[in-house]
Amino acid sequence: MTLIINTMNKFPLLFLLLVITTIAQSQTIRPGAIWPDNNSNHIQAHGGAIIQYHHQYYWYGETYDADTVHKSVNCYNSKDLIHWTYKGKVLTMSMPDTVLTQFKLERPKVFYNVRTRKFVLYMHLDGVAHGSDRDYSFASVGVALSNKPAGPFKFIRAFRPLGDESRDIGQFIDDDGTAYLIFEDRPSGGFHIARLSADYLDVQKEAAFIKQPMEGGAIVHYHGLYYVIGSHLTGWSPNPNQYATARSISGPWSIFKDIAPPQTNTYNSQSSFLLKIAGSKSTTVIFMADQWKPDSLWDSRYLWMPLRIGDGQLALPAPKPWAINLKTGVWK
Ligand code: DGJ
Repeated sequence: MTLIINTMNKFPLLFLLLVITTIAQSQTIRPGAIWPDNNSNHIQAHGGAIIQYHHQYYWYGETYDADTVHKSVNCYNSKDLIHWTYKGKVLTMSMPDTVLTQFKLERPKVFYNVRTRKFVLYMHLDGVAHGSDRDYSFASVGVALSNKPAGPFKFIRAFRPLGDESRDIGQFIDDDGTAYLIFEDRPSGGFHIARLSADYLDVQKEAAFIKQPMEGGAIVHYHGLYYVIGSHLTGWSPNPNQYATARSISGPWSIFKDIAPPQTNTYNSQSSFLLKIAGSKSTTVIFMADQWKPDSLWDSRYLWMPLRIGDGQLALPAPKPWAINLKTGVWK
């Protein structure tokens, strides 16, 4: 405080500059920085995704906190994608009795079903399964349900989608409301894009299987083309994320290409979700990714950047602070 008053009195110009910089920073998304919520806590919504509901954005993701017995899904909401209000833990689970040890709840994804008006949460549930001694051998999805975006969600069941092993999951809702779960299946050496049932509570039918081992799957439909993004399988370490395109969700899918210069390892990040903002002047697709810190996962950062996308090409620009006008869809 004394420092602020001294600066204010002795260096009024410096003080003004400090104020202007602070205001400017608070109006931008800053990739890789600590992202404080309304309580000034670094946002805990890792491996997350966003839905829009009643003119608000809801961001769901993994929580890493002092509670090591339970695993939770956090929820935040916002009107501008910059300032987020903590809505609490919308689902808290203790280890299912189908898992022996090393319980994990990763990459939660919430789908809003306009027909049933329910919120359906899918999550990657894992750990050492009974009869195995390997971590990540449970390889299943969990489903939970709520009437409200900020929960509470009621856990329904855990299962293997289409009978296959499932680790990283991603979500996509097409323009006609058809919802898809993207899931990585190691024994098959690729990932599935699978249609959900009309109530979104079940994984019903394979739309495409892409024989390319990839995690962090995300899809966007942009100007008549589907773009899928994913990372290679290198645990918490970043690698060059890649994309492919198709005219139909069921393919055929093109070959995969890097989304950023490969030596940057996707600017030290891993894909999680693609958020499309359709404004009056432009449609912007935001790449949402995690910069993992495996030794202090709670301190992992977020890399969100608008993509350069169109005509079958996609590129992630070098991260820097940016802002978007949500009405026009134009970012700078
Ligand atoms: C990579 C996945 O994308 C993450 O969600 C997490 O499961 C790590 N592997 C664990 O090593």
